[in-house]
Amino acid sequence: MKLQFLSLLPLASIASASWSKNLNYRSPSEHHPGLGVSIHRVVKRNDPQSSYKTSTLNFTHGVASGDPYPNSVILWTRVAPQSDNSQSNLTVTGYAPLFDHDNEKYVHVSKSPVCVEYKVAADKNLTSTIDSGQVYTSSDVDFTVKVEAKNLKPFTTYYYQFNVCNSNNKSPIGRTKTTPNADDDITEVGIAVYSCANYPFGFFNAYGNVARKDSVDYIVHLGDYIYEYKNGDYGWGNSLGRIPLPDREIFTLYDYRKRLATYRTDLDLLESHQKFPWISVWDDHEVADNTYRDGMAELNNTEDSFIKDGVGVAVDQRKMNAVRAYFEWMPIRQVDMDDNLRIWRSFSIGKLVDLTMLDTRQYDRSITDLYWNTDYVHEISNDAGRSLMGSRQENWFYRSLSESAKRGATWRVIGSQIVFSRVNQSAAYGDANPVNYDAWDGYQANRNRTLDHLYSNNINNNIFLSGDSHASWVSDLVWLGEKEYDKSTGEGSIGVEFAGSAVTSPCPYGANISLTTANNYSTWLQNANDELQWQDLYYRGYFELHFTHDKVDANFFGLPTVVQRNGWEIPIANFTVLAGANKLQRPVAGGVVESGSLKSGKVVQNNITLDTNNGTWFLSHADLEVL
Ligand SMILES: *[C@@H]1O[C@H](CO)[C@@H](O)[C@H](O)[C@H]1NC(C)=O
Ligand SMILES: *[C@@H]1O[C@H](CO)[C@@H](O)[C@H](O)[C@H]1NC(C)=O
Ligand SMILES: *[C@@H]1O[C@H](CO)[C@@H](O)[C@H](O)[C@H]1NC(C)=O
Ligand SMILES: *[C@@H]1O[C@H](CO)[C@@H](O)[C@H](O)[C@H]1NC(C)=O
Ligand SMILES: *[C@@H]1O[C@H](CO)[C@@H](O)[C@H](O)[C@H]1NC(C)=O
Ligand SMILES: *[C@@H]1O[C@H](CO)[C@@H](O)[C@H](O)[C@H]1NC(C)=O
Ligand SMILES: *[C@@H]1O[C@H](CO)[C@@H](O)[C@H](O)[C@H]1NC(C)=O
Ligand SMILES: *[C@@H]1O[C@H](CO)[C@@H](O)[C@H](O)[C@H]1NC(C)=O
Ligand SMILES: *[C@@H]1O[C@H](CO)[C@@H](O)[C@H](O)[C@H]1NC(C)=O
Ligand SMILES: *[C@@H]1O[C@H](CO)[C@@H](O)[C@H](O)[C@H]1NC(C)=O
Ligand SMILES: *[C@@H]1O[C@H](CO)[C@@H](O)[C@H](O)[C@H]1NC(C)=O
Repeated sequence: MKLQFLSLLPLASIASASWSKNLNYRSPSEHHPGLGVSIHRVVKRNDPQSSYKTSTLNFTHGVASGDPYPNSVILWTRVAPQSDNSQSNLTVTGYAPLFDHDNEKYVHVSKSPVCVEYKVAADKNLTSTIDSGQVYTSSDVDFTVKVEAKNLKPFTTYYYQFNVCNSNNKSPIGRTKTTPNADDDITEVGIAVYSCANYPFGFFNAYGNVARKDSVDYIVHLGDYIYEYKNGDYGWGNSLGRIPLPDREIFTLYDYRKRLATYRTDLDLLESHQKFPWISVWDDHEVADNTYRDGMAELNNTEDSFIKDGVGVAVDQRKMNAVRAYFEWMPIRQVDMDDNLRIWRSFSIGKLVDLTMLDTRQYDRSITDLYWNTDYVHEISNDAGRSLMGSRQENWFYRSLSESAKRGATWRVIGSQIVFSRVNQSAAYGDANPVNYDAWDGYQANRNRTLDHLYSNNINNNIFLSGDSHASWVSDLVWLGEKEYDKSTGEGSIGVEFAGSAVTSPCPYGANISLTTANNYSTWLQNANDELQWQDLYYRGYFELHFTHDKVDANFFGLPTVVQRNGWEIPIANFTVLAGANKLQRPVAGGVVESGSLKSGKVVQNNITLDTNNGTWFLSHADLEVL
């Protein structure tokens, strides 16, 4: 049964439309029907003659693009007869569609496909089309559309638009950009780096600010793009009018679709997707809190899950639901059609940057801290057998680093969900378990193997990016206890780690923490950790990296408030890494930051306060930019 079969269908006016070119029918796993959609069955069920009326179809969640290559990019939209998400439980039955044998009918699946056309052009008015095509979507894939635009030129800006076939019913126009060829000698490139956007904790101003500035080429997202919680359990969405739907903790395929769809109503998120190609990976919350290969913190595979008021979903099923919805909704490529869980992949951005995106979370991570087993994970945290990635990914990771150095790319940038550097946090965690065992600190052997690979092979110019922690941590990349390190000069370091704060998720040392208390903790953390050159707990925000062959400039931005939609931000700290130096340039941050704690330098504090009488923020700081 091959896909060529499809072209034989008698499809009158839309004869050239394709099912398989809508990549969402093929992922997450084309070759494992139990995990994917049987296109054959969908085609048999659907009757193109009974198509929806064009006027009843809406582009409900804008457009998006992602995973840029030199000659192609992924384009995404959703066009549906309703804004609600599809109830078809593909992965619950392991088969598509769900057939109700008693009543001899398909349940919650539509019999009408939607035909969608896409066009890509080099100009905003889409006058000279460079690539186009027609594909189907249907309830089976939640009416999402994901296509690969091809025949593009490297490092070039493009515009794209979808429309319902043979009609004037159009999506917004999106903008995107390809990457350079690997051997192109480009001189500069910029990325914005995000993590941890929690809808009921605030507005996604951070996404919108970069769109308003138009200051980068690509967006890198390190995960926690959504959260799985019920609003009241984590978040204060009631007070903000931001209740993530469905209004419960999420488990089913419908749940994950609905949750992604709710997040995708934030206007700043929509704007970012419409304007920039994204390169994203998931962390834990795209599935559930503190996931690893075989489980998660808040769900056990015990019979309790299936009796009485148990949630009725096994750990693996929940993960499959989350993964399927993620692939449907995110403009991400599936780089290995036979490996439905693989999102680890890499991007060459000319001779300037090799970007390696890891999955330290869902793919093959050894057991993590699930809260009730912290002592145990502490005990085994230095076991040689533990891995965050599994051997297949680990080998690929080390090989990628070597190949990148060998081909002479100036910078090696590693997107890691979780913080890489050791961080003693005993001030908050206590002395018994002073580190975060859910980060690289719980997997010391994996960290040692990474550092050993870099040091032994003289691989230079390494920049780790991380998220997950809801705070900012900037460190020299060091192997404590193994390699000499001078915290004042940075000698002995093999690179730099930039770990960024959250888009909205609250400070890990207390939601609504005061600036004074936050900076006090930052000072403690900075003093307790030699390689930690700057730390900030207070601000929600993001950072930008601007690469040239000579240096990387890192600019951290803090958001004064996310409880309302606004374009305010403060440039709280700037860093430079010179090519060949493998450490932060001294004086670190130019000797002055605006928040947190800097190892050698000063903090010039902001005074931004809320007038509770009228809900207005006093912005007494000269550096505040209103975008
Ligand atoms: C499509 O969107 C328009 C405008 O928001 C709305 O009036 C219409 O009811 C929507 N149609 C459907 C089928 O949801
Ligand atoms: C889909 O699964 C959920 C939970 O397993 C269930 O409540 C719902 O009824 C199912 N939908 C259909 C159409 O079977
Ligand atoms: C694009 O369209 C707008 C409005 O129709 C027009 O003003 C503009 O000149 C066009 N630009 C190009 C490059 O064709
Ligand atoms: C999972 O099992 C552990 C160990 O028995 C227990 O402490 C924890 O409360 C359980 N979690 C849930 C959500 O049932
Ligand atoms: C990792 O390196 C540290 C520092 O040298 C050392 O203390 C630890 O035992 C090493 N762990 C493993 C598993 O190699
Ligand atoms: C924190 O701030 C939010 C938003 O202003 C508010 O809804 C919430 O009640 C506050 N929480 C605490 C514990 O003060
Ligand atoms: C600051 O932190 C220290 C511990 O490092 C603590 O003793 C002190 O009470 C804290 N002060 C404030 C104002 O939070
Ligand atoms: C963490 O830092 C504190 C304060 O510097 C110190 O007393 C403690 O021994 C450290 N713990 C570890 C595991 O390094
Ligand atoms: C960081 O750089 C920006 C842009 O050059 C500047 O406006 C800002 O003041 C700098 N921030 C700090 C803390 O030096
Ligand atoms: C901020 O407030 C502190 C203490 O309240 C004061 O010392 C400082 O001068 C103020 N800074 C600015 C920029 O207003
Ligand atoms: C809120 O009150 C402050 C004085 O406390 C005033 O300066 C400000 O203009 C007021 N803002 C609004 C929007 O009323």
